[in-house]
Amino acid sequence: MSGSERVVVARRLPGAGLDLLAERFEVLVGEVPLDREALLRRVRGAAAIVADPTVPVDAALLDAAGPALRVVANFAVGYDNVDLAACRERGVVVTNTPDVLTNATAELAVALMLAAARRLGEGERMLRGGEWTGWEPEQLLGRELSGATVGIVGLGRIGTRVAELLRGFEPELLYTARSARPEAEQRLGLERSDLASLVGRADFVTLHAPLTPDTRHLVDAALLERFKPGAVLVNTARGGLVDTRALVGALRSDRLAAAGLDVFEHEPEVEPELLELDNVVLLPHLGSATATARDAMARLVAENVIAVLAGKPALTPVSR
Ligand code: DGY
Repeated sequence: MSGSERVVVARRLPGAGLDLLAERFEVLVGEVPLDREALLRRVRGAAAIVADPTVPVDAALLDAAGPALRVVANFAVGYDNVDLAACRERGVVVTNTPDVLTNATAELAVALMLAAARRLGEGERMLRGGEWTGWEPEQLLGRELSGATVGIVGLGRIGTRVAELLRGFEPELLYTARSARPEAEQRLGLERSDLASLVGRADFVTLHAPLTPDTRHLVDAALLERFKPGAVLVNTARGGLVDTRALVGALRSDRLAAAGLDVFEHEPEVEPELLELDNVVLLPHLGSATATARDAMARLVAENVIAVLAGKPALTPVSR
């Protein structure tokens, strides 16, 4: 059934959410990769736009949609692709998908800690490349997560879940956060720290902060200088948190033992220097990529659109 209101899905949305929308609205679905010009034409008259981290939601897109637009529902927890001020000026509600992807993303962060520290990528490349000649006493020696000091930069939902998942490894857990989290400190044995001290003590540093003008290049050359030698850096948040050039330098100089990266500064481009390094595990932005998480995200996107277009409050607004 199609109603009179139009919902434009900028690229794709899993069926769990798309079906809910299609039952109620006229739904126009875009293409992968994003065709910005086609999207600008398609959004005209839309009441809702479903975006995702690859879709810049800026003044031009909002103006192309016009005054009927009431909600931008981002298929992601991060919303650095959305110009919140431009949405606010036009009275457009913005929503995201918190909670439902927390576990999937936290699991991937732990997977990257292990993959980078135990050199899984190198081992697999060696084996697939036919270069493995058999077990060797000192082949691809890595480092253990158990008992290590892990620094969690940003103790939001995902950072907290990482701390929970790590309990079996009995690490020493440090965290940074804008305000103290006494409940989490007590429950998970976390110790709050400033960023410079955290990186100076941690064997593993895992990033879970949003990308904002304040956090862009949070991990820069100066901070990398302060990392404990031989540490492992993991980023499942946003590529822009790290100055990639500085990171490459730190990985080349062995300042860092390894890194595990799921996100990049200029996705889908991956800096060629990273591709040349053996001590970095690279993944194509898979943090929330489980069927459970993506279906739940799609449903939440749809429920947000349905609520706002029915004149009700959004379930998970990031701005009103
Ligand atoms: C997010 O939700 O922000 C991820 O980057 C995509 O799942």
